[in-house]
Amino acid sequence: DLMPREFPAGTAVEPLLAPQHLAGLRVLVRARGTREPLEPVRFLGNRSSGKQGHAIADEAAARGAKVTIVTTAGRPVAAGVEALAVETAAEMEQAVLSRSDAADVVVMAAAVADFRPAVRHDQKIKKAGGTPEIVLEPTPDILAGLGRRKRPGQTLVGFAAETEDLRANAGAKLAAKGADLIVANDVSAPSVGFEHDTNQVLIMSGSGIERDIPLSDKRAVARAVLDAVVSSRATHPPDLLPNDNHPGSDT
Ligand code: C5P
Repeated sequence: DLMPREFPAGTAVEPLLAPQHLAGLRVLVRARGTREPLEPVRFLGNRSSGKQGHAIADEAAARGAKVTIVTTAGRPVAAGVEALAVETAAEMEQAVLSRSDAADVVVMAAAVADFRPAVRHDQKIKKAGGTPEIVLEPTPDILAGLGRRKRPGQTLVGFAAETEDLRANAGAKLAAKGADLIVANDVSAPSVGFEHDTNQVLIMSGSGIERDIPLSDKRAVARAVLDAVVSSRATHPPDLLPNDNHPGSDT
């Protein structure tokens, strides 16, 4: 029936519809692809724009969290968000580790390079020297490292940018990285993932809960991710207390 319905005063409709708050929690977000320099001019990079990570940081701040974003994007952040600017996977790892012990929620939305040039030349490589052979070396897997040192009460969210077998790849990543949630997107689909203002994701939790988020703007996807974080923390109440008096957390 399409008749407007009247609710008696005091009906608890609003609180159920309102986004679940994150007041008192420390949230650490990592955003955008890294750039791995080959020499002063050229780098190895990827298409990650940082839009999704920044939307998550802004949404977490709007919900009352104390937010730090580690980002390679020179993008403005919401009032009260601490931004740490980095460029390479090594710098990102250092910045993340400086804040991760104090964080209640860590969201690893960045596309970290898996490989970097093994040698960083001091000078620009000249054409006259012939076609260079570029040797790569692996970077540390920051998310897996955090998964291994995860303390009780910490919620770890990883991302998976896939071009095939979304569900299987995301499930494998949950286990391999020790994450509580994996947000997977099929970056080969139209309007999804890298550089777009919209995203479509599958959120998988370690306890087997899956949510399909249809094509939406990245702020709406951010809301869905943070809702999943709140439910994950409610389902597995680890110590439930915000991380107030952790040494070194008050930076
Ligand atoms: O293994 P894959 O790169 O697909 O895993 C994606 C997740 O792992 C993302 O959350 C990404 O930020 C994280 N990751 C990382 N350090 C790396 C590679 C990936 O933290 N060196």
